[in-house]
Amino acid sequence: MPIVVVVGGQWGDEGKGRIVDLLARKARVVARYSAGNNAGHTIVNERGEFKLHLVPAGIFYPEKTCVIGNGVAVDPEVLLDEIGSLEDKGIDTSRLVLSDRAQVIMPWHIRLDQLDEAMRGEAAIGTTGKGVGPCFVDKVARRGIRVADLLRPEDLAPRIRSALDYQNKVITAVYGGEPIAMESCLDRYLEYGKRLKPYVGDVQAIVLDAHKRGEYVLLEGAQGSLLDLDHGTYPYVTSSVPSSSSGGAAIGVGIGPTDIQRVVGVFKSYSTRVGNGPFPTELLDEVADQLRDHGKEFGHGEYGTTTGRARRIGWLDAVAARYSVRMNGLAAVALTRLDVLDGLKTIKICTAYELDGEVIETLPARESVLDRVKPIYEELPGWQTPTTDVRSFDDLPPQAQAFIRRVETLLECQVDLISVGPSREQAVIVNPIF
Ligand code: IMP
Ligand code: MG
Repeated sequence: MPIVVVVGGQWGDEGKGRIVDLLARKARVVARYSAGNNAGHTIVNERGEFKLHLVPAGIFYPEKTCVIGNGVAVDPEVLLDEIGSLEDKGIDTSRLVLSDRAQVIMPWHIRLDQLDEAMRGEAAIGTTGKGVGPCFVDKVARRGIRVADLLRPEDLAPRIRSALDYQNKVITAVYGGEPIAMESCLDRYLEYGKRLKPYVGDVQAIVLDAHKRGEYVLLEGAQGSLLDLDHGTYPYVTSSVPSSSSGGAAIGVGIGPTDIQRVVGVFKSYSTRVGNGPFPTELLDEVADQLRDHGKEFGHGEYGTTTGRARRIGWLDAVAARYSVRMNGLAAVALTRLDVLDGLKTIKICTAYELDGEVIETLPARESVLDRVKPIYEELPGWQTPTTDVRSFDDLPPQAQAFIRRVETLLECQVDLISVGPSREQAVIVNPIF
């Protein structure tokens, strides 16, 4: 049975949470494989509305194993809070498994994230400030602390001591910040270790055993491919190692690339971005406000799940999206938030860029160039009837069908699933994904 990866195709917040929640019906194991609590999923189901930052979206199904892979940066306080609030709403979290190899976000990572952004000034990345970037820096610098280290005082004490020796020098001498005390950290993190211990397990074995037994496994990416450390709009990207694109999925749970059978990319019917960096199709007019505030009264407007920031809005950028289809080896697209376009007179799709009088159809590597490209738009007629209650492709307004067919051609990938609202059932399944 297949191992399927779900990735975001744009700059994050494409609606992966709700797509995973829908696809999770058939899966036995749902695993997060990268990033940390910079990510945020909003899931609406019969139990209410949930904002999850670390726990995989499969947790709402009673018989699924939910996994936080070795590729995830885990803030234990955030994870324990999330577990607590799920339990408070009657959701059993005993099927959650946390990799002993996952990196831990420590207090200095959060401090450094904020100090570093302040020091960058005008050139700030616009990070979520959760310490995720500095945690991955330490992972690569081989100074990281892993979940396994939290379980034994004799492992944790020397690791915190040597990390703090170094980090306090950086915090005080480079950034002029206040040093962090050793003792408070040690006690706090040992306590987290005690509370997390029942969840710690062997993630690789869980994924591969389920696969061998013929069960479906869903690997869930965080953020979006255009924030990928290698392929995204560098340096305005996220630091996750492994990356959030499909290439990171195998590494992030400890399997081989040939174990993965299928990759599904989630794209919004338009574009959004939070944080700074190039955004060729960005809109600064009233259309942007209209799209951002669609569903705002129900808490479904375009405001960040993690930071509450208003998201930047733009038309669908097919140049960037096609790049993303290729980078991820996508077999299928899930197109979300189609209903947000309901009522617009016309809808634009960017099909190419103009740069100094030339037409280009690929994403330039340099930020300074990407900042200057002008989108070339194709304008399609909108539809004036709501799509929120539509459940089959043939029942969509003809203009919406034409929009989707055009997206498929431009992205060079078929659209298998369309979402028309935030609830689990508000979806049009064009072709079964698995
Ligand atoms: P960091 O991941 O907090 O270091 O932030 C780096 C960039 O990635 C910033 O532009 C953030 O706004 C963006 N980012 C990080 N996580 C998410 C996410 O889950 N959705 C959308 N953008 C994100
Ligand atoms: Mg999000």
